[in-house]
Amino acid sequence: MSSAIATLNNRGYQMATPSPLLQDWLSSYDGQHPLLDIGCAYGINTYKALELGIPTVSMDLEKKHLDILLQNMDKEYRHLSTCVIGELPYSIPFSDNYFSGILCAEVIHFLDGKSIETSIDLIYRKLVPNGKFVMTMASDKLLEYIDKDMHTKFQDDLENGIKWPGEMPMDAEFTKKFQNIIENDGIRSEIDHIFGNLLHFCSVEQITEVLQHRGFGILHANVGEHPGYEDPEGLGTVPKRILLVVAQKL
Ligand SMILES: C[S@@+](CC[C@H](N)C(=O)[O-])C[C@H]1O[C@@H](n2cnc3c(N)ncnc32)[C@H](O)[C@@H]1O
Repeated sequence: MSSAIATLNNRGYQMATPSPLLQDWLSSYDGQHPLLDIGCAYGINTYKALELGIPTVSMDLEKKHLDILLQNMDKEYRHLSTCVIGELPYSIPFSDNYFSGILCAEVIHFLDGKSIETSIDLIYRKLVPNGKFVMTMASDKLLEYIDKDMHTKFQDDLENGIKWPGEMPMDAEFTKKFQNIIENDGIRSEIDHIFGNLLHFCSVEQITEVLQHRGFGILHANVGEHPGYEDPEGLGTVPKRILLVVAQKL
C-alpha cells in the first residue's frame, strides 16, 4: 500500500488509499454531468474516476497540488480532466446544476460551523437534482479518542443547544493532547505542522441535520474506518474514526 502524502498547505495528508466511499461517488455519475472532487490534493480519488472514462473536475485551494496532479496524469486521461482552484465555502467556479456527484473527502473538518453550512448550500446548488454528495470528515469519536473530557463537554454543549461545539483551535494545548495520544499508540507524526489552525469534529447527527435542513436526503451516514490513514513513514495508523456520509439532492 502506498503511504499518505503530506499536503503542501498544512491541510493534513492525501490519504494512502482512495476514499472508502469511492464507489458511491463513482456510481453517482449519470453519463452526462461530470463528477467533482473537492479538496482533491494529488488526485487519489480523481484518478479512479478518470480511469473509468468519467469527465472529472478536480478542485483544490492549493495550486501546487493541482500542478502535481496534472503532471502525474497519463496523457490518455487529459481530455476528461479539468483542474480548478477553488475554496470552500466561497467558490466552486461552475454554473448551478452542473455535477452529478460531488466528493469532499477529508476536507470539511478544516471549516468552522458557519462555513460548513455555507459550503453545503453551495454544493447543493452545483448538483443536478438527485445528484449525490459524498463526504468524509473527522467525527466526534476521534475527539473522544483524543480526550474523553473534551468529548463529554462536546456532548453536554450539544445538549445545551450550542451549535458547533466540536470546533477545536489547534492551539498548543490541544495539539499536545493529540500528539501525546498518537505517540502512546506508537505513531510518529508532527501534528503541529500538518493541520493548520482549526480541526472540526462533528457527530453523525449534527451533519445529517444540517444536510437535511438544506434540502438533502441522507442515503447513508455512520462513523467508520478509513484504511488510508497510514502515517507517511509507515510507522502505524492514526485513529480511524471518521464520519462517512452519502446524501442526495432532493
Ligand atoms: C486532508 S487532504 C485530503 C485529500 C484527498 N481528498 C484525500 O481524501 O486523500 C485535504 C485537501 O483539501 C484541500 N482543502 C482544504 N481546505 C479546503 C477548502 N476550504 N476548499 C478547497 N480545498 C480545501 C487541501 O488543500 C488538501 O489538498
